[in-house]
This record gives sequence, C-alpha cells and structure tokens, in this order.
Amino acid sequence: MPALFRKQREIRNYIKLHKCENGRTIGLVPTMGYLHEGHVRLIRESKMQNDITIVSIYVNPLQFAKGEDYERYPRDLQRDISVCEEESVDVVFAPMDEDMYPDKPLTKIEVEGLTNILEEKFRPGHFSGVCTVVLKLLNIIQPDRAYFGEKDYQQLKVVEKLVRDLSINTEIIPVSTVRDANGLAYSSRNSYLSAEERESALSLYRSFILADKLFKNGNKDSKLLKEAITDFILKHPHVRKIDYVEITDENLKPVQEVKEGDRILLAVWVGSTRLIDNWRIGYAEV
Ligand code: PAJ
Repeated sequence: MPALFRKQREIRNYIKLHKCENGRTIGLVPTMGYLHEGHVRLIRESKMQNDITIVSIYVNPLQFAKGEDYERYPRDLQRDISVCEEESVDVVFAPMDEDMYPDKPLTKIEVEGLTNILEEKFRPGHFSGVCTVVLKLLNIIQPDRAYFGEKDYQQLKVVEKLVRDLSINTEIIPVSTVRDANGLAYSSRNSYLSAEERESALSLYRSFILADKLFKNGNKDSKLLKEAITDFILKHPHVRKIDYVEITDENLKPVQEVKEGDRILLAVWVGSTRLIDNWRIGYAEV
C-alpha cells in the first residue's frame, strides 16, 4: 500500500528523511487523478529510473478557465490509490485545496511565446495555473526526475522551458502518448464520452494517419494538410467544433512547409467534451 500524504508538511518530512538523509532518488508523476493507462506508463518509467516513485493527485483549480469542467472533473481517490498499489508506487500525495493554496496566489508565471498560444487562446489562464502548480510540486518534492506525457505536448514544452529558465534541479522526462487499440489517446476526460461519441473521437487519430499518408505521398504544404485534417474530422457525427488544428516544429513554431518530426496539434469538441491530441509527422507506418 502506498503511503498517503495530504499535507505539504507531511511529505516534506518524508523527503527530508529519504532523499536528504538516505540519498534515495525520487521520481515524481504529477497527475489530476482518475488514473488510466497513460498515467500508468509514466509511473512505470519512474519506477525503472528511481528508488522512490511519488504520484501526486490534485485537481488544480487554478488551471481551469471560467465555465470549464472543474466541478465535474472525474475524481476517485480510492480507485487511484488501488492503481498506485498495483504499480507499487511508494507515495501518493493528494493535497487538499486549503493546504496547496492557503491564500490566493498572486504570482503569475509566463513562458513567453509558449504559454500564450494554441491552448491558451481557448483556455485563458490555463498555463499560468499549470506552471504555478507544477513549480509548487517540484519545490515541495524536489524530485530528481519528473514525468510528463507527450499527450499534452504544449504543457511538456512549457514545463521543460520553465525548469531550464529557473534552474530547477529536476530532469523532465517526456513519455510518449499511450493509445487504446483503436488509437484513441487515453484521457481522464474520455469518461465523459458516450459510446457513439467515442466512435467519433477516433477521427482525431485517424486524421493523423491520413495526414501522414498525404505527407508521405509528397504533400508538404501545411495549409493543405490542415484542411484535410479539418474536413475529415468535421465529417463525423457528434463533432461539434474544432478549436484549432496547427502544424508546428518541435518548439511549437507554426511551419508552412512540413518536414518529418513536425507536430500536428489539435483540440476538438466531441459533444460536450473537449479533446486534445497531437502527432509527430512521419511516425505512422503507412
Ligand atoms: P493529467 O491530465 O492527469 O495528466 C498527468 C500526466 O499524464 C501529464 O503529464 C499528461 O501528459 C500525462 N498523460 C495523460 N494522458 C496520457 C496518455 N494517453 N499517454 C501518455 N501520457 C499521458 O496534465 C495534467 O494532469 C495536469 O496539467 C498536471 C501536469 C498534473 C498539473 O496539474
């Protein structure tokens, strides 16, 4: 059974003993809970590379924009603890709101050129909230390594730069996206989808395969590929709207002429569920 800490003070004491006095290495997997196969992949990476693996579970109110799904975000701490137990996680850190934010934080973090694009245009304040909670977790736990999924590619890029810029003593380890057998990227928000919506949600992955095929047949024009992706996804029932489809280089700069290794990033509403996904071009075996 993993140790469960609900207060910063408790986990700081644990860290002091195990890291500072006993010299153990620590891997942190930050999550908002409702754990799935994607999270489990991060946990397994951490287990392989560190003496101690800590999973944080905290639905961070700061990163939800007004009118978003903060209240209805799925939560099940007991189930999450069981998943962590199965994966032999050492510690679950599930802080309470009063403990994380005893008063309203006034510090706002911006990573110029990375936190004001793509997701942020549709979720104002999102990345400032992500940066605050990630920095707090890194400061509280001081892990040797922290694990982030490519599923949230913009978040990964923001966190990598933040940690470099502020000399945080933690190595950020990227982990590739885990998909189900049909290609749907695992996400806690998939639990909102009905069976028919889930079927339509597969259009995201299938649009990547389509774009990869077009690319491999010599279509390098970003505009053409983005239009093909958009048209394909919009043909599916339950797809309400597309927030964005963008193709960028690996540093999130939009490209005109696409090359292998560039990223397709998109956000799509299926019914009342907003899904994000991304794809490294040239990756599909087509
Ligand atoms: P959450 O959505 O719970 O995701 C936690 C971590 O799991 C993130 O690094 C995310 O990229 C990764 N992840 C999610 N789905 C994945 C998948 N299908 N394959 C691989 N990795 C996947 O992202 C957050 O929480 C929060 O913003 C957080 C970083 C915890 C800050 O609150």
